This record gives sequence, C-alpha cells and structure tokens, in this order.
Amino acid sequence: MRKVVLKLGGSLITDKSKPFSVRSERVLSIVEVIREAVSSGIEVVIVHGGGSFGHFAAKSEIDEKGRLTNESVPRISDAMMELNQIVMLHFLNAGLKAVSFPPHSICLASCQFSTFNCNFTPLLKAFVSGLIPVTFGDIVLGDNGCGPFIISGDDLSMMIAREIKADSVVFATDVDGVYRDPKDASSLISSIRLEDIPGIMKEIKFPSSVPDVTEGLPGKLLKIYRYLGGISSHPVVAIVNGSLKGELSAAILGRKIRGTMIY
Ligand code: IPE
Repeated sequence: MRKVVLKLGGSLITDKSKPFSVRSERVLSIVEVIREAVSSGIEVVIVHGGGSFGHFAAKSEIDEKGRLTNESVPRISDAMMELNQIVMLHFLNAGLKAVSFPPHSICLASCQFSTFNCNFTPLLKAFVSGLIPVTFGDIVLGDNGCGPFIISGDDLSMMIAREIKADSVVFATDVDGVYRDPKDASSLISSIRLEDIPGIMKEIKFPSSVPDVTEGLPGKLLKIYRYLGGISSHPVVAIVNGSLKGELSAAILGRKIRGTMIY
C-alpha cells in the first residue's frame, strides 16, 4: 500500500496576511481530495503548518520579548492547537478517522545538536491501526536547560516519512512548485535531484514578504536535503499547488504533476 506524508502549508490553509484566519473553503476541498485518496487505499499522515496562527503568535512573541522563552510556549502552542482543532473538525466531519498528536507534548528540541527528539510511538501505532495521524508545526521545549524552539511541519514531515518508510512526501503549498524566478512563470523547475539542491538554491530568487519564522521555501529545500541526504532509498518529494484539486490528488497518488518533484 502506498504510504504518503502530506504537509499542508500554512499559507495554503490560512490567510497569512490576516492573523488567525483559516481558508475554510480550501480546507474543505483538500479534505475531499484526502478522503478520495484514503478510500482508494492510500495510507496517509497529515502534517499542517502554522500560517497566520503559529507564525503570527511566534512573531508577536519575538517582537515583544526579543526572543522565544519558555513563557512563549503557552501562547504559541495554544495558537497552533486552535488551528489544529479547526482542521481536525473538517477531517472528522468528512468521516476521516483523524487523530491529533500535538508536537509540544511529544517532542523536545536538542539545541546541542540542532535536532528534535520526538516520541512517535503512539502516532505510529495509530498509523498502523488504520487511523490518520495529524500533527503540525509547533513550539517545543528545549532539553538540557536550552530554550524552546519552533519545530516546523517540514521537519516533522521528513522525520515521520523516515519512520513510516513513506513512498512519498507531498508538500501542498500555495504556489505551483519551485521557480528559478517566481516572477517568471516559465521558470518552474519540474524535477530536482536530491544532490543538486545546494547548487540550485544558489540560483533561485526567493521571495519573502510575510512573517515566517521557519524560513519558507528555502528552509523547506534545505530540510529535504538534510533529512533525506545519505538515505539510500528515500521517499520521492513532491511540491505541488494544493489549491488545485487535480494536482493535489495526482501528487498523493504518485502520478505526474505540474509542480516540482525531488528524486
Ligand atoms: C510553523 O510551522 C509553526 C509555528 C510557527 C509555531 P511551519 O513552518 O510548518 O508552518 P508554515 O507551513 O510555514 O506556515
């Protein structure tokens, strides 16, 4: 059976220009695509981003206090729980057997190694039991006296993909894929070899205009490279426009997409 980790980007499911606003129509249409994929036998783990919930709360904390402290954890984790509850409600209303795993309760940041330690055992148990685990970018406490850290949904997607030996990781975003120049529609890169990521990153013009504490598309490419480099048979990664139902469905099913594939 095909195993997929699907990351729903924060800018896809929320309006990043407006604090605490969900794009409900979009979430509904995404949930419909997932429902169809699941009924065709796809096994999926869902990860969602922070968008105008987590990023907004994290940015406000940094603006007000200069940095994230342990006291930032309640505000940011609560913002993410709020978004997660809305997303979960859409899943459950569609009859999907989704179950939520908040990272602040299963992960710690190991600042010495700039990594995260998560106890995925219950999430994996849910997955093999036929449920749909849902997790999300979050703030997590640090170990050994270190401060808290933002764990992005991209980190979690790559970590979980390794755990479940996923066939594919699908990043559903609000753009068609990776462009050499986002202002030039003809510069969409349709496929990238994993080992070529560092070179390609030097050539790309990355836009940045919205508050994003986890570094957007460049951060995503780097994480894909770091997490998958060195793994002999790694999952295929698809970066696709999640607002286009047909494209999202094709990406989940492993069919040809108009987007960026990373092999
Ligand atoms: C960010 O998660 C989580 C917080 C800011 C708390 P992501 O990095 O996965 O979010 P998006 O997809 O960029 O919005």
